[in-house]
Amino acid sequence: MANPSHPRNGGTAVCPGSYDPVTLGHVDIIHRAAAVFDNVVVAVVDHPVRKQVTLFSAEERIAFIQDEVGELGNVQVKPFDILLVDFAREHGAKAIVKGLRAISDFEYEFEMNQLNRKMAPDIESVYLMSSPEYSFLSSSGVKEVAMFGGDLSGLVPGSVGERLQEALNR
Ligand code: PNS
Repeated sequence: MANPSHPRNGGTAVCPGSYDPVTLGHVDIIHRAAAVFDNVVVAVVDHPVRKQVTLFSAEERIAFIQDEVGELGNVQVKPFDILLVDFAREHGAKAIVKGLRAISDFEYEFEMNQLNRKMAPDIESVYLMSSPEYSFLSSSGVKEVAMFGGDLSGLVPGSVGERLQEALNR
């Protein structure tokens, strides 16, 4: 529920992603979206054939995010396995919010934007520029650092770092 002492009027936004796992860059984007929109639904992709198999199950990925945004009263975290625009419509969302890191993100996001806009011109995609300290950060990069025993502090929440090491040691 929105905090009345911090008025927002952006309606509901969806923050979609695979979040395998959530990084501090994602957490930053979710917090910033929650400061602008009345409600934010973090939508976690739960579709087995969409990409290669994920390291963490949807339940684990959702729990990691909930641990980081649980104190925000206007954020929910949910799995989805349908078209993003259909999920957004089901939740009455006016906007899809995504983070943009570098020019390399632009091409993929531009394509997704055109697809989503064609299917749902009534839902606006909104891009938040990543904070400078996270502009290099990606879930795949983090997994590679973890695989080779690198330091994950400042990249992912502490509990996620521990679980990453365990998962990759399996
Ligand atoms: O890069 P990510 O984190 O894997 O992004 C996932 C997502 C769903 C945000 C992106 O692929 C997208 O915008 N897809 C639009 C097409 C769609 O609805 N796919 C269904 C996914 S279940």
